[in-house]
Amino acid sequence: MCGIVARIGRGNATETLLSSLESLEYRGYDSAGIAVQNGSGVKVHKCSGEVSDLKSSLDHEPHGNMGIGHTRWSTHGPPTDENAHPHTDSAGDVAVVHNGVIENYDELKAELQENGHEFESDTDTEVIPHLIDEYRSETDDTETAVRRAVDTLEGSYAIAAIVDGEEAVYAVRKGSPLVLGLGADEWYLASDVPAFLDHTDEVIYLEDGDVVVLEPDSYRLTDAEGTPVERSVETVDWDPEDAGKGEYDHYMLKEIHNQPSSLANTIDGRVDDGEISLEEFPPGTFADVDTVQFVACGTSYHAALYGSQLLRSAGVRTDVIRASEYETATGPVDENTLVVAVTQSGETADTLDAVRKGADRGGRTLAVTNVVGSTIARESDDALYIRAGPEVGVAATKTFSSQAVTLALLTQRLAEDVPEASPPGDQAEMLETLADLPAHVETILESTHAEELAREYLGSESYFFIGSGLGHPVSLEGALKFKEITYEHAEGFAAGQLKHGPLALVTEESPIFAICTGNADGKTKTNAIEAQSRGAPIIAVGSADNPIADVAETTLEIPDTHPVWAGLLANVQLQLVSYHAADLLERPIDKPRNLAKSVTVE
Ligand code: M6R
Repeated sequence: MCGIVARIGRGNATETLLSSLESLEYRGYDSAGIAVQNGSGVKVHKCSGEVSDLKSSLDHEPHGNMGIGHTRWSTHGPPTDENAHPHTDSAGDVAVVHNGVIENYDELKAELQENGHEFESDTDTEVIPHLIDEYRSETDDTETAVRRAVDTLEGSYAIAAIVDGEEAVYAVRKGSPLVLGLGADEWYLASDVPAFLDHTDEVIYLEDGDVVVLEPDSYRLTDAEGTPVERSVETVDWDPEDAGKGEYDHYMLKEIHNQPSSLANTIDGRVDDGEISLEEFPPGTFADVDTVQFVACGTSYHAALYGSQLLRSAGVRTDVIRASEYETATGPVDENTLVVAVTQSGETADTLDAVRKGADRGGRTLAVTNVVGSTIARESDDALYIRAGPEVGVAATKTFSSQAVTLALLTQRLAEDVPEASPPGDQAEMLETLADLPAHVETILESTHAEELAREYLGSESYFFIGSGLGHPVSLEGALKFKEITYEHAEGFAAGQLKHGPLALVTEESPIFAICTGNADGKTKTNAIEAQSRGAPIIAVGSADNPIADVAETTLEIPDTHPVWAGLLANVQLQLVSYHAADLLERPIDKPRNLAKSVTVE
């Protein structure tokens, strides 16, 4: 997974390319590069490291009205200068940036080498400019050469290319995202909308097989066969400010603080007079569903666990499967199975693969995602958007909250529709209290002592998170967040499982965060006390009168609410603890080592 950008229009492209790449760094930050066309050849500038390293390596602003750019998350070859994109053919006439994986690059490379092409990198991508060059020598037409080149590729790609002497950008998409931005007098291409949101909100989401040729005054869109295609122009309703860091030191902190508003957006119009109103899914939509299978990864998997507990308690047969394990872990699937893919980005390769397999087996598919136009939204039978707004920090925060709320609402619709299921008795109360959730998050943000607590326990051996019922997915999420950005050892457990092994790790140097939701807290308390008697400090995360408050060192307090929402509030406190611990440890919070926001390789 990587981010690619391209821009053509009037004026210099370099500044736009660099700032676009900064907006896409969440997709990878191992290396960065640009190539611009300036009438005296294609100039490539690239280096290992972040976009800021690329910027400081430029001793002048490269000039050209068109160019391409790339920010990399390494798959083939280490993050070196040589492996950074753009890659070129031997003469340096064709420059290419690529997001995806070329599976048959070994054999293509061998053939090209036999024909005299010289390679400089370990990447799979480098075969592409050489192929374009090879076919350009057989035809005068670069578009034809690009088509012939991609015809030989196996794998997934979003590619943008520029060629010496041509005022054009050529781009193709198959299996990796690519969006065309239509500016007033310039065109953009990018892996994701935030790259050009400062310039335009008019976009075309390209389809697999689409080939685009951008020229300064026009663009041409054709399908894989070369037939002109019309794609609808959509207006993105994300505010450019949503995609920036604003007054915050880190995107993660901004996104934690954005939750009152992102949650309000998620809920807006979906609960009407005590009834669920999911515009896309009127009552009866799921009348033929008898089993729900959730597939997801990482934080989205934890949100799916949250949703699945609610669904089971409403009497719907439910499985939750880690998307990467779908092949071996799935039970029977038929036309009455609803396969629900939960994915913020809508591009996670494991999740896409699982949902495709579910569809192949006859299941009906539903994407619960944040990104309109994402691959999963387009490939699934239906999509339900979590409406959290752009999330840039690699650590998922506001999207977890919005996913969990969206799934809770979906649960209600399913429970009403699925024969023999029934919404929980306290549905009215649950929906009524949902309206207060954004304000409750605000209260936490204003009153939390998470920073002080993070400081107090800094340097501990391990950090454990326990919870029961809906507290369990929150314990897993709390631990994932903590380890992901602090690099400290953290684990989450169902509270009752502590004594079945993990208790051996518990010492006075391992603080335990005990999550209380107001439901199933008895087990959490018993197990917290057992750990405490082995010396572990206990931090309760729950309402002021949570049952662990009287034995805990301290409570990270959440406002009183329905148990279904309490876990989400506890999670906000845990997000803050992780954030402050990582900040005190001076970790690169928005770009944790070895990670990237959307993982588009299996
Ligand atoms: O885009 P997705 O929701 O499909 O991403 C799934 C995981 O890669 C993601 O949730 C990851 O675990 C988070 N970055 C953790 O904070």
